[in-house]
This record gives sequence, structure tokens and C-alpha cells, in this order.
Amino acid sequence: MNLVLNGESREIPSDWTDEPLLHLLREHFGLTGPKFGCGVGLCGACTVIIDGVATRACITRAADVEGLTVRTIEGLAEGGALHRVQQAWLDLAVPQCGYCQAGQIMAAVALLDSVPDPAADDIAAAMDGNLCRCGTSARIRAAILRAAEGVR
Ligand code: FES
Ligand code: FES
Repeated sequence: MNLVLNGESREIPSDWTDEPLLHLLREHFGLTGPKFGCGVGLCGACTVIIDGVATRACITRAADVEGLTVRTIEGLAEGGALHRVQQAWLDLAVPQCGYCQAGQIMAAVALLDSVPDPAADDIAAAMDGNLCRCGTSARIRAAILRAAEGVR
């Protein structure tokens, strides 16, 4: 049983197949960008991109990503260059405590991959389920618009 994880084919060991994808990523593959928040699909801290769709890794079974493509925040930068969404986040100093931010960034990347020039309503709909207890939502919206400017 395999998946394509951040561009590389990786095996899902048989003793992990019934575990949440989030635990497989963090504990087996050592990818700690996706965070455990609520564990029940309500906060977005664990968001990864599965076949282009922002998905809650805490409520996704590891076996259910067999043959699929999974991206985590660790797979965004290429050749030493940050993804434009990561760069926009840095430029606008978006994070506060940071706990929710990998999930926020992955949701933003999935949005911009499907809607390159999003309207305010598109951003609100895409980011609605990603909670931030620190109140960074206004900066997140601004950073998404800034990242979108690069493709206008
Ligand atoms: S930890 Fe997955 S949605 Fe909260
Ligand atoms: S930056 Fe602290 S929860 Fe979002």
C-alpha cells in the first residue's frame, strides 16, 4: 500500500493502515507540520492537500490515501525557494503562536490552486473551517490576496 507524499512514493506500513493519516504523517513519516488540534475535523490545524483538495488529516484513515497524492507544508518549498503563499505569510508576518498556521497555509494553497484570483467570498468560504485562536484571520486574508497578486 503506497501513497505519493510530497512528490515521493512512500509505503504505508500494514500496522498503520487503520490509524488517522495525521498520526501516520507525524509519527511514522516525521512530518510535524500538520498539527493535532481537535481531532474531530472541526479546527483545520491538521489540514493537508489530498489530490488537490484541502482535507482534514485527523479524520482521514491512512488506508484511504492509498494511491493518492498527499502534500504537507514540508513539501511546498522547491529548490530552496518558499512557495508564494509561504512568502506572503512571511511578508505580512501573519502567524502569532503559529499552531494553526500550517493548516491555514495548506488551505490557502489549495484555494489558489483551484481559484487563482479569489474574491473575498471565495477566501471566506475556503478558510471558514480553519480556526485561529490568536485572531490572525485578517492577516490571513491579506496574505492570500498578496499571494494571488503574483498570478494576476
Ligand atoms: S485536528 Fe483535524 S480538524 Fe482539528
Ligand atoms: S496563530 Fe495561534 S492559533 Fe492561529
